Order: sequence, then structure tokens, then C-alpha cells
Amino acid sequence: MQDVSKISTDKLSLERISSFIKSYITDDEGELGRIYATAIQDKVPVMRKETRELIKTQLIMKKPMQLLEIGTAVGYSSVYMSKYLGEGGKITTIELDEERVKIARANIEKLGKSQVINVLQGDAYEVLKTLPDEAYDFAFVDAAKGQYVNYYPDVMRVVKSGGVIISDNVLQDGDVLESHFTVDKRNRTIHDRMREYLYTITHDDRLDTAILSVGDGVAISVKR
Ligand SMILES: C[S@@+](CC[C@H](N)C(=O)[O-])C[C@H]1O[C@@H](n2cnc3c(N)ncnc32)[C@H](O)[C@@H]1O
Repeated sequence: MQDVSKISTDKLSLERISSFIKSYITDDEGELGRIYATAIQDKVPVMRKETRELIKTQLIMKKPMQLLEIGTAVGYSSVYMSKYLGEGGKITTIELDEERVKIARANIEKLGKSQVINVLQGDAYEVLKTLPDEAYDFAFVDAAKGQYVNYYPDVMRVVKSGGVIISDNVLQDGDVLESHFTVDKRNRTIHDRMREYLYTITHDDRLDTAILSVGDGVAISVKR
């Protein structure tokens, strides 16, 4: 039998830590700030502020020239990340939802980033297969959580040696920590697949991976 009071206390303290950290984060200015605010208002899932700050530091250290994003939504993260590419760097980002692709392209255009960010519409599992080997030095995996494990072989194929792979939402508000049987039936497949993904990226000899409890859980992997 689970101790329910313990779970809510754990959650409360995590929320407190998160709001404390967020109180130090400066909001985006101008058009990018507007895109973020509109996304939140329209309930479009965008990367959390703490995650964004963590990714920023990784980008500043890595200065990627070719960045692959899986899960564009309305283009917030790709525009945000484009500020930290190496000189002349480019982003390829994949989104399934046609309406979101339209909004993302319009946002990217508005921010003058059309020459830097290329949005590919389609199911990431299929689109990934069309991308060239070892073409990317940074990948941000942020699409269908239950599919990460299926994207993985192609993500490994398209990322070059020394490249960084960041996977977002790997702890899913703590659900991944729970046992298979205590998770809602409809979420069990995602739960099991995310655990399989975490096992894979922490046990693959070709990678070094750290799992962090930042935002909704972030895994940072470096391809050897
Ligand atoms: C968490 S959102 C991405 C947020 C975005 N990276 C940001 O931070 O601004 C995940 C996106 O993945 C898209 N998605 C879901 N399944 C997908 C798939 N199979 N292929 C491509 N995109 C998919 C969803 O439509 C959604 O817009």
C-alpha cells in the first residue's frame, strides 16, 4: 500500500523547488515572449523555463552547426535555440500537426529566422528515415513520449560522434517513477516505453547519459 501523504509531500517540495528556481529566470522579451505567452494560453506544450535554461547552457558550450529538433509545436523552442547556434548554424525541426506547422512557420518568419530554421511536416518516425547519416551535432527530442524508443535508432544514426542528444519529459511529472500497476491504464504503454528508453540510453555503450530532474525530467546524452 502506498503512503499517499508521502507522495503529495514529495510533490509539494518539488513544486516549491521548481518555483524557487523559476523565480530567477528572466522571461523572453518581444516577439519571442509573445509566442511563449500565446502558446501557454492556447495550451500548446512548450519547453519549461528551467529546461530552456539548461538547454541554453548546453548550446552555448556546444555551439552546434546542425541542430535537429523532434517536436516543433509552434516554433518557440527552435526560435529560442537558434540564438545559441554556432555562426551560420541551422535547425531542422519536425512536427506532425499541420496546423502547428503553419503557426510555427509564421512565427519563424516573423522573427526573421526562415533562413535558419527548416520545419519538416510529418511523423517524426518516418521523417527521421529521410535524414542523412551523422549530419547533426545536437538533437532535441521533444515529441510523442511513447515514441522516443522508436526514434532512437535513427537519432543515433543521424547524430555524429561527439554530438549531444537532449530528451525532454523523461520523468513525466514523476509517473515514470511509479510502478507499472499504479499508473493509469491508459498511460501504461507510455510509462513502459519511457522506462525502456531510459534503460536504453543509459546502457548503450555508444553514449554517456545523465538523467536530471529538471523541469519534467531531462536526459542529456553525448555520443562517443
Ligand atoms: C512538447 S511539444 C514540442 C514543444 C516544442 N519543442 C517547444 O518547446 O516549443 C511536442 C510536439 O510534438 C508533436 N508530435 C507528436 N507526435 C509527433 C510525431 N509522431 N511526429 C512529429 N511530431 C509529433 C506534437 O504535435 C507537439 O506539437
